[in-house]
Formats: sequence, structure tokens, C-alpha cells
Amino acid sequence: MIKVFSLIGSAAGERSTTAQLSDRFAAAFRQRAAEDGETVSYERLTAADVRLDFCRSCHSCFRSGICPLDSVDDMGMLKQKMRDCDILFLGSPVYMGRMSGFTKCVLDRLTGMSHRLELLGKPTLLFMTTDSNHGQAAADDLDYILRFFCSSVINIGAFYKTGHPNLNYEEDMQPILTETAEKLLQTWYDPRIAITDFQQKVFLSRILITRRAIRLNLGSVEAQAVHDAGLDRYVLLTEAIEDFCMRKKVRR
Ligand SMILES: Cc1cc2nc3c(=O)[nH]c(=O)nc-3n(C[C@H](O)[C@H](O)[C@H](O)COP(=O)(O)O)c2cc1C
Repeated sequence: MIKVFSLIGSAAGERSTTAQLSDRFAAAFRQRAAEDGETVSYERLTAADVRLDFCRSCHSCFRSGICPLDSVDDMGMLKQKMRDCDILFLGSPVYMGRMSGFTKCVLDRLTGMSHRLELLGKPTLLFMTTDSNHGQAAADDLDYILRFFCSSVINIGAFYKTGHPNLNYEEDMQPILTETAEKLLQTWYDPRIAITDFQQKVFLSRILITRRAIRLNLGSVEAQAVHDAGLDRYVLLTEAIEDFCMRKKVRR
């Protein structure tokens, strides 16, 4: 069973264009996975389903690894779903030229998790919807941030109501749905295929920070978490992904 969790940064709930697009990707993926004998579970939440507060810059996540808000709002639950799923969908509408405020708020709240590399190698499908413009810039912006998680990002860009690819034209959508389902499955089989040179640099700098903090006994909770996970044994992100994600999958 491949577990897909989708988080949609729109508070339009079931009316959300982005949520509806997410469902289409999930349906296409389920169909493709079935051809390989795999079943798929799919859970989608939108901004309308959760309560989320803004980060208060208390720095507790850096210092203790714990966000005090996680037990007050729904972020603790969202984090757990992100950890537990095999594939993460992150879809955002374009609001005022970039990702929605909800999506950015989620990312702010995930900063500690990114430093601890908790989503390393997680196949993550990134998509945006927009009426007519800013799609490319907004998707690139979100893509850039997601790379810091060292997750395996599949950026399929933006979908338009008046533009290309057009959400309302099946001749635009069908090839993309098929292609995306294929990419998702291949990335699930081997998350290393989506890793970029930039992510390798991000990973290495995190590992060097960790090694130094451990060597000098600086008491960094974040470094300790990376060390305890055994990640600082690696220099290459692809090797870490192979050991931490691919071998785990074989054992399942
Ligand atoms: C507050 C707000 C800002 C928006 N800003 C843009 C924009 O900058 N460019 C654009 O082409 N569409 C913009 N749109 C349109 C949305 O991107 C588009 O309708 C999207 O598909 C909505 O997705 P949703 O239904 O999942 O929220 C905006 C919509 C809203 C509500």
C-alpha cells in the first residue's frame, strides 16, 4: 500500500481548484500503480480542514526540537502525516503572485523539520493553480524552499484557467496526468532520481554543521537529531536516501 498525503494551501475546501487537481493526480497515480500491482491510499486536507497559527519566532523548534504551537493547533498532526506518508502532495493556489499564505505558514512551521532532514528522500509532488499568471515564478519559489528538506521534489509547475496547460482542456491535462503518475511511481521506486546538485550542497552543509556541533559538543538539538538518525555518516545525499528510504522499503 502506497500512502499518499495531500496538503492543499487553499481554504476554499471542496470548491478549491487546487484540491480538485490533487484528486485528479491521485486518481491517475492509483491507476498507474495498479498496473504494477500496487494499491494506493489517498488522504487530502485543505486549509479549510485545519487550524494553523503563525510561527511566533520563539525559536523553540531550533533549541528544543519542539514547537509549543504543535499541541495547540493542527500542525503536530500535519507533521505526523507528512512523516508517515510514502508520497506527499503539496499543492498551492497562486495568490498575489506566489504561493498562498497558508502554504508559506506551513513551510515556516516546518523549518525545524527541514533542519533535522526529517523528510529526506520523500517523494513530493509540487503543483500550483492560477487564473492567468505568475504560475512559473510561484512554482519555482516553492520548489526552491522544498529543496531544503532534501525531499525528492517532482515539480510539475502551474496549471491555468486562462493559459497553458489549461485545467479545462483534457488535451492539455491527460498527457500531464499520465506523465506525472509515471514520474511519481518511478520516484517512489527510487527517490534518488529527483535529487539535484543544489540539494546535494544543502545536504552536505547540514552534515558539516552537524559533525562540527557533535565534535565540539555544542549541545545543538538539531545536530543531535541528525546524528542520532545516523545521517552524518554520509557525504552523498543519494547514499543516505538509498540507505534510509530504499532499504526500508525493501524491508516492508
Ligand atoms: C487572493 C487571491 C489572489 C490571487 N492572485 C492571483 C494572481 O496573482 N494571479 C493569477 O493569475 N491568479 C490569481 N488568483 C486566482 C487563483 O490563483 C486561482 O483561481 C486558483 O486556481 C485558486 O485556487 P483554489 O480554488 O484552490 O484556491 C488569486 C485568487 C485569490 C483568491
